[in-house]
Amino acid sequence: MKLLIKNGRVIDPASKQDEVMDLLLEDGKIAKKAANIQEKEETLTVIDAKGCFVMPGFIDLHVHLREPGFENKETIATGARSAARGGFTTICAMPNTKPVIDNVDRVKFVLNKAAEVAAVNICQVGAVTVAQQGEELADIEGMAKAGAIAISEDGKSVMNVKLYEEAMRLAARSGIPVFAHCEDKDLVGAGVINKGAKSEELQVEGISNLVEDIIVARDILIAKETNAKLHLCHCSTKDSVSLVEEAKKKGISVTAEVCPHHFTLTEDDIVAGDTNYKMNPPLRTKEDVEALKLGLKNDIMDIIATDHAPHHAKEKAKSLKEAPFGIVGLETAASLTITELVDKGYLTPMQMAEKLSYNPAKVIGIDRGTLAEGKIADIVILDPEKEYVVDVNDFASMGKNTPFAGRKLKGQVVATIVNGKVVYQNN
Ligand code: DOR
Ligand code: ZN
Ligand code: ZN
Repeated sequence: MKLLIKNGRVIDPASKQDEVMDLLLEDGKIAKKAANIQEKEETLTVIDAKGCFVMPGFIDLHVHLREPGFENKETIATGARSAARGGFTTICAMPNTKPVIDNVDRVKFVLNKAAEVAAVNICQVGAVTVAQQGEELADIEGMAKAGAIAISEDGKSVMNVKLYEEAMRLAARSGIPVFAHCEDKDLVGAGVINKGAKSEELQVEGISNLVEDIIVARDILIAKETNAKLHLCHCSTKDSVSLVEEAKKKGISVTAEVCPHHFTLTEDDIVAGDTNYKMNPPLRTKEDVEALKLGLKNDIMDIIATDHAPHHAKEKAKSLKEAPFGIVGLETAASLTITELVDKGYLTPMQMAEKLSYNPAKVIGIDRGTLAEGKIADIVILDPEKEYVVDVNDFASMGKNTPFAGRKLKGQVVATIVNGKVVYQNN
């Protein structure tokens, strides 16, 4: 079966090419990339991409799929459909499920299940410690051999430096990166939102920038010592950006991600009583948000990832103090990137493709994130001008927990193609 994408603005970070062209897909691969491809086969499907961006399919390094154990929040199948609807062709599942993905069998369970039910490519991240208890290292080398593409203790930090140093050495030896959730356990206490004007107004405990910054600095130093590939998850503070900049100047192997909610919202946007503004790390100040956006613009921050964290409506209906941290992100990420960053001049469309596809592919070492001839046909087609209002009832995700419901956004996914097959098309 062949598929022809006509007249799209083809944006390929691998070759830095940005031109109106056609793409011919055949047998799951990009067979041809050229102007005005003429194919006259009866089995040919044609997609008119006039006025649209055609980019390598997005790759999300940070997703919570909730299966096994929390299938009332999300499953591998629904999470994958949500990804497809958001333009993501590959997503990385964090290990904080029940049980935690901390051994070979559990990595295999997710990968096998995904092969059966998922519309997009699923990668699995293994835990750093057994049951994420921070006491005993998980079988890092075994999980890497079984296909885990990274290790992470996401949801918390490994506070024991001796243990984390050993974990980083093992990850480096296994050739996989360490995805770091940076949060000092003692310093965070029972914090709920950013520590500052808003936490005082709402009279809840705050989470200071130092909670994140101190562990970002620490983890960079451990990476320097161990030669591990360190990837910093959901950076939210201005000092995270400057620490990453400094580390890169010194040649330390560090990459960093920013989530759409952190570059879009500040603590001032928090609506009292709405727990869809509660996530970890929390929404910060205007100054932090500006530093994150400039960090992305100046390529200090490499990656946009969602931290898609579906929760059940019942749990999110609890008080600000008691509701779980996290919001869904897969189905709004592309639009928020266009609305907040591309349209406002922070990112070129080429940089958007780099941060949502090419760079994440490099971090986990997969041969995707490019539109070169001969490569796997994982592609997203987006209309950058299309405006729409976010309606959670349209979400493929089981999670409806987003602060962006009812918000008017620009830029919509038109079609998502995985291995040459259309897995989502917006009619
Ligand atoms: O907001 C968050 N939600 N932050 C995390 O670190 C964990 C995640 C979750 O699993 O819900
Ligand atoms: Zn996290
Ligand atoms: Zn997370």
